[in-house]
Amino acid sequence: VGEASQGGFDALIAADQRIEPRDAMPEKYRETLIRQIAQHAHSEIIGMQPEGNWITRAPSLRRKAILIAKVQDEAGHGLYLYSAAETLGVDRAELLDRLHDGKQKYSSIFNYPTLTWADCGAIGWLVDGAAIMNQVPLCRCSYGPYARAMIRVCKEESFHQRQGFEILWTLMRGTEAQQAMAQDAADRWWWPALAMFGPPDTGEAAKGGGHTEQSMAWGIKRFANDDLRQKFVDMMVPQADKLGIVLPDPDLRWNEERGHYDFGEIDWDEFWRVLRGDGPCNAERIEHRRSAHEEGAWVREAATAYAAKQASRRQE
Ligand code: ACO
Repeated sequence: VGEASQGGFDALIAADQRIEPRDAMPEKYRETLIRQIAQHAHSEIIGMQPEGNWITRAPSLRRKAILIAKVQDEAGHGLYLYSAAETLGVDRAELLDRLHDGKQKYSSIFNYPTLTWADCGAIGWLVDGAAIMNQVPLCRCSYGPYARAMIRVCKEESFHQRQGFEILWTLMRGTEAQQAMAQDAADRWWWPALAMFGPPDTGEAAKGGGHTEQSMAWGIKRFANDDLRQKFVDMMVPQADKLGIVLPDPDLRWNEERGHYDFGEIDWDEFWRVLRGDGPCNAERIEHRRSAHEEGAWVREAATAYAAKQASRRQE
């Protein structure tokens, strides 16, 4: 951007106003948004897989109907987000190619398996709980189309979180085997859910990288990763108590002085390993996504042909 447009952009950011698609913006701002929004969109559609795995095996018709609706919501979130990314001048087909080629990421959390029905409860409660904590501030993101998409996404995520809590609530009031299943799911999802917020913004585990400082200066991110993680822990401990679930962290305790819960060390080596493609389900997730894309090619071709036919009719 030229000097005058940079000034206009800086003034809008300083006044906490929204940047809209036609406004001038620095190239790095645009690139950062494309990276984050695309990664977010990819997470939504890859995130359909772990729970989709349980649709045929949900324990009742009611649970099946809820789960289908929930997984469909995630597809919808992906669509709003790809649309928001397209306002920045990229094509969604290109973004999907980058996902399939491994050039863009999706959330680390979706590389873990859903072994039992209780995992659907743990995902709703912990993963969607973490998603809300991270996404509510994004409703105030400086980029208008992303911020607006987040409002509806957050409303739906709140419902998802409650349905997860309710699955675990029911299991925790069931047989001993059901209680053990709920506890086991929480044991397996707790640490990966904490890692979802991203690496610490400073220190050894940050690996020197990190976009937080710049993204906060631009009003894209409103909080540092560690601050959101702390808020999440503080919110979840009382909920775990209500459920009767013991969170798998011996270091978890209230710190009167800080007014927050202290918690143990996250395994950042595991996080970086998962990001490099070496998590329990990375290969399976990407393979499934690629084959769904190929098998859906005829739908995209038909839709394009139909749109062209409609357009030529309008010209007649
Ligand atoms: N999974 C995969 N990659 C991650 C994760 C994660 N959980 N957290 C951080 N990273 C990556 C970043 O993409 C970045 O990679 P890069 O340097 O190669 O570009 C690197 O780790 C360093 O992280 P940050 O500097 O913290 O990166 P960023 O500023 O983008 O913050 C965050 C990461 C917090 C995830 C941010 O992108 C964000 O808020 N995204 C929107 C929310 C979202 O994507 N949610 C998806 C899961 S929720 C759901 O779908 C239900």
